Amino acid sequence: MVSSNARLPSAWTIADALKVHADDPTTTMPVIAQDFPVIDDALWQWDTGALRRITGETVTFKGWYVMWSLVAERAQTGDDAAGWHNRNAFAFIGYYYSRNGIDWTFGGRLLNTSADLRPDEWSGSLIMRQGSENVVDMFYTSVNTDVNQSVPSVSTGTIHADDSGVWFEGFTATTEMFSADGLHYANASQDPYFDFRDPHPFINPADGQVYCLFEGNVPGMRGDFVITDREAGHLPPGYTVGEGAGYGAAAIGIARLVSSYAQGDFSRWEMLPALVTALGVNDQTERPHVVFHNGLTYLFTISHHSTYTGGLEGPDGVYGFVSRHGIFGPYTPLNSSGLVLGNPSSAPYETYSHFVDPMGYVQSFIDTLPAPGTDPQAPATYRIGGTLAPTVRIVLEDDRTFLTEVHDYGQIFAFDEWAASNQPDPRPAT
Ligand code: FRU
Repeated sequence: MVSSNARLPSAWTIADALKVHADDPTTTMPVIAQDFPVIDDALWQWDTGALRRITGETVTFKGWYVMWSLVAERAQTGDDAAGWHNRNAFAFIGYYYSRNGIDWTFGGRLLNTSADLRPDEWSGSLIMRQGSENVVDMFYTSVNTDVNQSVPSVSTGTIHADDSGVWFEGFTATTEMFSADGLHYANASQDPYFDFRDPHPFINPADGQVYCLFEGNVPGMRGDFVITDREAGHLPPGYTVGEGAGYGAAAIGIARLVSSYAQGDFSRWEMLPALVTALGVNDQTERPHVVFHNGLTYLFTISHHSTYTGGLEGPDGVYGFVSRHGIFGPYTPLNSSGLVLGNPSSAPYETYSHFVDPMGYVQSFIDTLPAPGTDPQAPATYRIGGTLAPTVRIVLEDDRTFLTEVHDYGQIFAFDEWAASNQPDPRPAT
């Protein structure tokens, strides 16, 4: 295995990204029906994740499915397009519970407001502490957009349930995990548009240690990056790197927990070089997460059409990379291009924030759906989502992925029974 800190990140190259194409049916989200159901009329709901183990599997608790979502009160933001687009300034993490993984009840806020160090809570992960009955660690991003601060953080509580529902206690204090250091990842003084958020902790099966993925940017002054052969890849004859390519500087970040996981001490981390960078290609690789499957390491991340640079194009959706040598790579893009599931060109902003679980189920939220008959790129009218999209399933086959199933809106599938039983892997055969 390549050692964790003496290595270069793998590059998602310009040549790789030239292979990205929308509307391939194996890598395209189904078109969502105009009359999609809304899970929660009172709240805008977007980035979402199931309660899971630190080893990745979705779990139920006493027979209840549980998920966290970024939410904002429609009454506060306005229950219209302007309200939806303004939601980030009112974001907090709420939770929902369900008997069947389809019909959801809102349970309330997770973090005690007194534990909030900053006004907004952005994405993270909700994880049952390994070895405990009901301790839950809530990883999130503590955000103050006014002063351009975002700090991956964690708060700890306990989960409880009876026949009537699920509730949480605790979450009364916040520990900041790590910050953008300007050395491994860009900080606000290098890049006023820097991203540093979405903590995704996991145990690396190869060494048993706890690591955390997160969204970052390549360190260095914004606009000063030079695109070399490493970032360009194997370009076609006559291709010239597009103007402004260097404004794309996304990085999939990783840090190693130094303090004790067993004691719930998340205060000390070692910052490590990024796993994958998108220098010259794209400025955002958000909500990175990992799936270990069939001896391979799959790294997924979400990205936007609008954050591609240098004239490159690709749909909003989930992208991915695969390593044959464990978490530290090297990584190559899945499906040659990196695209795993993109929005169809007839509804280019219909879904976002896809999360791939270890069984290949992919959850996302509905953003905007163009009204039928309007220009999808600039629709005169569209329906706002703010609720969850149909869950789909993909098969991971070596370095390729295939869309194979479509399920209910916001549906979650649990992994518990298989994880507890040592039965054969229930995922579709590859
Ligand atoms: C992805 C994302 C995350 C962030 C959240 C804020 O949809 O941009 O990176 O935590 O949304 O709403």
